[in-house]
Amino acid sequence: MNDAAIKRLIFALDVQTFAEAQEWVKRLRGQVGVFKVGKQLFTTCGPDVVRMIRASGGEVFLDLKYHDIPNTVAMATVEACRLGVRMVNVHALGGGEMMAVTAAAAAQVCREEGHPLPLLLAVTILTSSTDATLREIGIERPVTEMVPRLAKLTKDSGFAGVVASPQEVGLIRAACGPDFAIVTPGVRPATASLDDQKRVMTPGEAIRAGADYLVIGRPIAAAADPEAAAAAIVAEMATALKGR
Ligand code: C5P
Repeated sequence: MNDAAIKRLIFALDVQTFAEAQEWVKRLRGQVGVFKVGKQLFTTCGPDVVRMIRASGGEVFLDLKYHDIPNTVAMATVEACRLGVRMVNVHALGGGEMMAVTAAAAAQVCREEGHPLPLLLAVTILTSSTDATLREIGIERPVTEMVPRLAKLTKDSGFAGVVASPQEVGLIRAACGPDFAIVTPGVRPATASLDDQKRVMTPGEAIRAGADYLVIGRPIAAAADPEAAAAAIVAEMATALKGR
């Protein structure tokens, strides 16, 4: 029963070194579904860290948030497909052509070379951005309008889903329907520290709100017993999934 919940738990490997990443993968493999490799770890370790996780039997979310001209993003995504990642992301602000060209290139390389197609995800508006941040760069629309608009563009461009705040799940579901993946960070068990996250939901609340995957880092990594913390989160997710 918990397998369905484990598949939906993404652990943020926010560490600096290959050795630390390897240690976490060893400890948490089997307890979380996917390991998220972000800009810090990828900049220090490069694709070897992705290969290490894959060789250990773990799945990878390559969280590099590509935003560039269509061909460059498409070619970077092709290489992510060759690494065998389960999820990879771009910034939806790069536009529909960037995402459509990327989706087509990913589908082609996976078909021709026999890789499983990763979930192609986009970030709509960073959760660190406010309406004032958008006005600063010439976008006069509020975040609450831009998020569903960019999610719809993501879907229409052939992508599978978005990364979003748990608070945005309802808006995105309304714009994109049930068959669209929503990955949410900003999740905190009721007993955990908020760290620098501000608008959080518990794992159960996020699943009940309609999130498909949860990204969780410090509530597991900084717990006295990380394996037990991961197991408790999975149990809470499993209970919430039963009610959906
Ligand atoms: O430790 P914590 O659970 O806050 O980790 C959440 C992870 O999700 C971090 O890697 C963070 O960079 C990422 N993230 C986030 N909020 C976003 C997008 C990504 O916390 N809006």
